[in-house]
Amino acid sequence: MKVGLIFGTRPEAIKVSTVYHELKNNGIDIKAVVTGQHKEMLYQVLDLFEIKPDYDLQIMKQGQNLAELTGRLIIKLDEVMKKEKFDYVLVQGDTTSVLAGALSAFYNQIPIGHIEAGLRTGNLYSPFPEEANRKLVGTITDIHFAPTDINVKNLLQEGYPKNKILKVGNTVIDALYWIKKHKKEKLENIRKKYNINNKKYILLTMHRRENWGIPMENTLKAIRSYLEKNEELYIVFPMHLNPLVRETAHKILDGFERKIFLEPLEYLEFIAVMDGAHYIMTDSGGVQEEAPSLGKPTLVLRDNTERPEAIEAGTAKLVGTQYDNVIKYMKLLEGDLYMEMSRSNNPYGDGKTSERIRKYLYSSVNIK
Ligand code: UD1
Ligand code: UDP
Repeated sequence: MKVGLIFGTRPEAIKVSTVYHELKNNGIDIKAVVTGQHKEMLYQVLDLFEIKPDYDLQIMKQGQNLAELTGRLIIKLDEVMKKEKFDYVLVQGDTTSVLAGALSAFYNQIPIGHIEAGLRTGNLYSPFPEEANRKLVGTITDIHFAPTDINVKNLLQEGYPKNKILKVGNTVIDALYWIKKHKKEKLENIRKKYNINNKKYILLTMHRRENWGIPMENTLKAIRSYLEKNEELYIVFPMHLNPLVRETAHKILDGFERKIFLEPLEYLEFIAVMDGAHYIMTDSGGVQEEAPSLGKPTLVLRDNTERPEAIEAGTAKLVGTQYDNVIKYMKLLEGDLYMEMSRSNNPYGDGKTSERIRKYLYSSVNIK
């Protein structure tokens, strides 16, 4: 059985890493087809998880837009599909690489397994374009690997047949466990390296398209204003490489002393920085899943989320990007809410998601 695993951005690489090893170590001919939608941020992950791409399409351009990115991806991926004639193609999540990967497989009539299927906000424009990507990929997917009961329910409500939906958990938890098992470096040493080991800090990440510009400006202004009155607190911001994100970050936070800008961190280092944070503010998808496992209160800088599990579990709050609301929640975390939100909780999986995916692929071959 020959499987093509298509991925191209940092979070996808993290979340397919254990699937790749699980299939490879169990006799499946797996090819890592890297689109290269990301470059530096992706290579960091490939090195850490010891993945050697079979293909690297090196597609990234500075300031790429959705249309040209999608167009270039589909043309290049089609060549790979025609050459390799995969029995199955796997994609993970909701990026442009996922949409283009699934579409290329579909054009070549190759069955698609969608990892992290069934996440929905119900708003096509938020997150943009990810909500549409998930739904579009869903319609051409052969098997939906859904992380949670809520994701299964979403898919059933959209009319997908029950026998094509498998609840498997989220591979992000497999990746966290893999790191714990294989990488022994001391998390404290990593924090020392960045000179944040003895500081009380909020960890911030922000990169979503719908937050570019004013929403991000308002959020950073609120954080700055709050921190100016709370002198023991720092803000640590490992910045996405997107120039638009960096421009806004510098515009609002330059000149403020207790900010620490970092380059995108290698995954292990990022976990160390998460682990040492007082709390987390983020618009990231993956971070919303990891934070509950580490027992870190998380303020979600978005108006909605496709990951309501952490909110239901009480470890995350949906805050949005309005100046007053951001400050309101930062103030609330000065009180009892902080302890309530600090409970370690993991609604996203048990670390065996990749194994379940492999078992399904075996069984599907037997059926055929
Ligand atoms: C993409 C995904 C988003 C995901 C995010 C993870 C789409 C439409 N968006 O958004 O769902 O949450 O990745 O981080 O697929 N850049 C670099 N080096 C890198 C990576 C990015 O320089 O290694 C810069 C480039 O200028 C690039 C820009 O960032 O053009 C934007 O990258 P792109 O992949 O288009 O969008 P993201 O915001 O990263
Ligand atoms: N991450 C990382 N280094 C960083 C910031 C994030 O390794 O400097 C990891 C994080 O732990 C999570 C993933 O990258 O697993 C999230 O990626 P991102 O926020 O870019 O994308 P999203 O999850 O929102 O699609």
